[in-house]
This record gives sequence, C-alpha cells and structure tokens, in this order.
Amino acid sequence: MAELEAASAEEVSRRRFLSGLIAAVAGIVGFIVAIPAVAYVISPGLKRATGNDWINLGPESSIVPGVPTPFKWSRMVEDGWEKSLQSGTAYAVQLEGQELKVLSDICTHLGCRVNWREDQQKFACPCHDAFFGIEGQVISGPPPRPMYPLVHRVENGQLQIKLEA
Ligand code: FES
Repeated sequence: MAELEAASAEEVSRRRFLSGLIAAVAGIVGFIVAIPAVAYVISPGLKRATGNDWINLGPESSIVPGVPTPFKWSRMVEDGWEKSLQSGTAYAVQLEGQELKVLSDICTHLGCRVNWREDQQKFACPCHDAFFGIEGQVISGPPPRPMYPLVHRVENGQLQIKLEA
C-alpha cells in the first residue's frame, strides 16, 4: 500500500513538473511572438514627426531684387498616426552685394504671421504692432529676436527651403 502511494505521489509530481514546463515554454513562445506584433501596433505612435524634405518654393528668377518676395508653401507632416497640413509664406530677400536670405513669416514674439508693407518698407506683425526691417531685424515692438532665417538652396533654378520636422 505504501509503495502504491509513493508511486502515485511520484506520478503527480512528474505531471506537475511537465505541466509547469509546458506552461513555461508556451509563455516564452507567446512572448517571442508578441514582441513584433506589439511593436507593429505601437511603432507609428513612437515615430517622430516627418516632413523634412526640401520644399519647392518656385523659380529663383521670380525673386525681385531689393524687395522681399513672398513664396507660399505647404507640406504634409506625419507625427505618429496623425497627419497634418502645414503652410506658410517664406520671404526671399536679395539685396545688392549680399547673399540671398529666406525669412519665415512667423513672428518671433508669439508666432503670428508677419507681412511685408511696401509703403513702409518694413515687415509688420499685426498682433502686437511690431516691425522688422527688410533683413528681418527687429525695429520695434516686443519680438525678442530677428525673423527666423530658413535653410534654403537653389536646385535646377528652383528656390527650395528645408523646415524642421
Ligand atoms: S506675435 Fe508678433 S508682435 Fe506679438
């Protein structure tokens, strides 16, 4: 009788061990399979914003020397699952004897859009009555720094800018 009980206890112990082993192997396999699946699902949410290709503004030949020439631009930006359209105006400024400058129309104070005022020969920000000079320098008002210069190049006669993502 005692031998029978010992054999039965050994059988139960072996079954428990095998069950535990199978559960552990199944858990490891499940974990290995789940890693790429979880990564696939959440990876778009972890991606940083993209959209930092060169943006075509237009022919360089359309820049009027001595006058800030506005170029409208737009681009699609992807940030995780979200896509959004951004747009703005870049001003190309070609002054005699100087390198071409391209300025953002975003005011450096609180981000309103500035406009070139031909009659005043200044950029004006309507939000807080600020003015910038033709090269983007602050003339008056609260902006803490000059207008933002944009990274630019001329490729095949086309003026292009590169914006941060
Ligand atoms: S946002 Fe341009 S002056 Fe305030």
